[in-house]
Amino acid sequence: MTSPSILFVCLGNICRSPLADGALRHRVRQLGLGWTVDSAGTGGWHAGEPPDRRAMAIAKAHGVDIAGLRARQVQRADFERFDLILAMDHDNLDGLKAIAPPDARAELCLALDLVAGREGEAVADPYYGDADGFGVTWADAQAIAEGVLRRFGRG
Ligand code: 4NP
Repeated sequence: MTSPSILFVCLGNICRSPLADGALRHRVRQLGLGWTVDSAGTGGWHAGEPPDRRAMAIAKAHGVDIAGLRARQVQRADFERFDLILAMDHDNLDGLKAIAPPDARAELCLALDLVAGREGEAVADPYYGDADGFGVTWADAQAIAEGVLRRFGRG
């Protein structure tokens, strides 16, 4: 198989999916893998913006720099560009199903479906909470990154 391509999708693409993106990119780089990792939002309100400063801070505290990421809205073309599209919650999953072309190449599921014992769960949205919530999101992002590595035989 050629190098897998993975897209994480949340609502705004400034909190949850950039953290999952950053956590997986970090591991992919550590392992010397040439995988494609990206993130997007079902909504476009934050397009062009860097991640939420609380997301950048929690990633940086764990040695991962996500400041270079810029939010973008997911497109139908992403279903042809990526092998695996991972929705951070059920609303995002429904939104993605609504725009998915019938012959989509990408496999689509919840991100936590790849984490043993967390199948069917949503990554909680930390946007309206305090900094502690971002610690929970980072832990989920790391577990998801390991789940993706396992899914493609590198865990
Ligand atoms: P995210 O969090 O989907 O994890 O990026 C949110 C970011 C922004 C908003 C909601 C959730 N918002 O309503 O602007």
